[in-house]
Amino acid sequence: MKRFRKLRTDERMRSFVRENNISVSDLIYPIFVCDGENVKQEIESMPDICRYSLDRLPEELDRVQEAKIPVVLLFGIPEYKDEKGSMAYDDNGITQRAIRLIRQSYPELLVIADVCLCEYTSHGHCGLICDGEILNDETLPLLSKAAVSLAKAGADIIAPSDMMDGRVAAIRTALDENGFKSVPVMSYSAKFASGYYGPFRDAAGSAPAFGDRRSYQMDPADGRQAMCEIEDDLSEGADMIIIKPAMAYADILTKARGRFFVPLVAYNVSGEYAMVKAAAQNGWIDEKRIVLENMLCLKRAGADRIITYHALDIAKWLNE
Ligand code: PBG
Ligand code: ZN
Repeated sequence: MKRFRKLRTDERMRSFVRENNISVSDLIYPIFVCDGENVKQEIESMPDICRYSLDRLPEELDRVQEAKIPVVLLFGIPEYKDEKGSMAYDDNGITQRAIRLIRQSYPELLVIADVCLCEYTSHGHCGLICDGEILNDETLPLLSKAAVSLAKAGADIIAPSDMMDGRVAAIRTALDENGFKSVPVMSYSAKFASGYYGPFRDAAGSAPAFGDRRSYQMDPADGRQAMCEIEDDLSEGADMIIIKPAMAYADILTKARGRFFVPLVAYNVSGEYAMVKAAAQNGWIDEKRIVLENMLCLKRAGADRIITYHALDIAKWLNE
């Protein structure tokens, strides 16, 4: 009989042999920033997560800094939306202004800028539309403009989440041509058409006005295709890869980990967060235990870093 329990006798022994750990440096915290003044508005389906206007954003950034979370991912929610998502690539757009504020007052924070049109378009789709069709190639110049504008504002990393084909190459070329050769691209390469994004769309007001995103985001049934998407994004110049959602897609993380050697990021999305929070609020689960277990399991599955709305709580628990 092999006695596996020898290595589980007490916490000293368990911690000595532990294969994976979670620390604040694993975490990326998403923040929603909106137009307007004196706004701190909780998102109903995402308890404890708020939208902040620029003047109130420092409250949240102070908490991030205090918690020693090194990286934030910014989502802008503009007042003005139109068919072409103009505010996505306006140098005075809400995301650009938020980045400038962070650059000025929180210089040690690493800022990732999400690049997509859906928060900025009146129809809520991630690309330009003609006769009900989401156009691919016509969308690329707009994404490129957004990327350059965000880099100009001071974004450290550009993260395209639109799932148009060829966007990494287009964005890379545009960044290079505009003096941003050293700004890396973290691509949402394997982004699935998922029901788990529901609460985010409430937060960003970005639910599509018609149809759905299945003509550009991946089918949840397809795992091999995710490897093709990642391979292609890397060949187009992506420096890091995001897989999204996280928990139900841990097999994709593991598969990608074995194949690719770039940093791999799991996005623990809004719906995953909402489920845990709801069960915890009902007293049905132990929130701290479940969240830390989820994070550890994502690391074990192959994630180097995790984007999560739980980041502030996790930092607090780790520091206890
Ligand atoms: C924008 C974008 C979405 C998310 C991140 N970037 C929403 C979507 O594709 O509808 C989802 C994040 C989350 O659910 O937490 N393209
Ligand atoms: Zn989008």
